[in-house]
Amino acid sequence: MSQLAMTEPKTKEPRPGAHGAILVSGAGGEMGHTLLAMLAAQHHGTREIVALDLRALPSESAGHATAAYAGDVSDPAFIEDLALRHDISEVWHLAALLSTRGEKSPELALKVNVMGSANLLKLAADSAARRGSSVKFMFPSTIAVYGVPTLDAKRAAGRVTEDQCLEPITMYGVNKRAVEEMGRYYARHYRLLAADRMDCAVDFRSIRFPGIISADTVPTGGTSDYGPEMLHAAAQGKPYACFVRPDARIPFMTMPDAVRSLMELADAPRAQLTRLVYNVAAFAPSAAEIAEKVREFFPKAEITYAPTLERQKIVDSWPEDCDDSAARRDWGWKPEHGFHEAFAEYLVPKIKARYGA
Ligand code: SER
Repeated sequence: MSQLAMTEPKTKEPRPGAHGAILVSGAGGEMGHTLLAMLAAQHHGTREIVALDLRALPSESAGHATAAYAGDVSDPAFIEDLALRHDISEVWHLAALLSTRGEKSPELALKVNVMGSANLLKLAADSAARRGSSVKFMFPSTIAVYGVPTLDAKRAAGRVTEDQCLEPITMYGVNKRAVEEMGRYYARHYRLLAADRMDCAVDFRSIRFPGIISADTVPTGGTSDYGPEMLHAAAQGKPYACFVRPDARIPFMTMPDAVRSLMELADAPRAQLTRLVYNVAAFAPSAAEIAEKVREFFPKAEITYAPTLERQKIVDSWPEDCDDSAARRDWGWKPEHGFHEAFAEYLVPKIKARYGA
């Protein structure tokens, strides 16, 4: 493939075996950065880890992979070629255009978010047929799949369960919701290639994430970005104008908790799972409460509010919080970081070290 740019394998001596390879798309993104490190630590070089991103990976991330590719997930020829090179038994499909970015280029978001997912689901199903056992497909979904029509409806809805308020207003939310359904189709109804030998071709498992805050990276193109941006600006002594009103409220969690939740769901016995898609939750502060928490640790933080209509509208359409009781019941989900611990124990110490604050 002309568009297939393969970088040198970085982690030594992959030992592909019966377990097959783990494919991670969007490996250069915020979540991919943490996930690759955690997968490499979990498997200690005993599994092939194939990383994929639109651009070449930074060397630190590439070091956690046994092979790294630069290419476009929405290009079927690129994905087909990849399937020929590796015996893939697990897919972690993280590549996506986020919500604010998606509203700037809705058709591009549709192509990357839906066609990219379709290509990888097909790869997983084909690989399952070849292997004679189901291929696990981990998919980060989002609170953007929810849509409440008004602020009164948002207040009335409170903590939404997985089956409520599913009328997203962004292309990103629509795309993620569509892929959840595509995953359900491949898990439950795809022509069961060797139905006598496996429960399903694609073992699709998904988590709807809230806004995520990392100490290491700042997101791009999302609408929950005001949370991490506020904190990273304060740590660098920079003023920050928040693009939503002080009363805007959505759920958030830390990046380590987010990645751990995905890894715990991946490890859960299938028989324990009553759903394909789960909410996870940790804390749900307003923008003003985040600003207050940031000032607790960075008293000189200069935070002002300059809401933009488009992004405010998106945040207003997302629920105040999510009900994660199904995840807690089925696979023992529990966040390590509540609101204060997130800052006191994880974000602030790491960010201070990072910026020398
Ligand atoms: N962080 C995402 C966004 O803001 C929501 O899942 O688009």
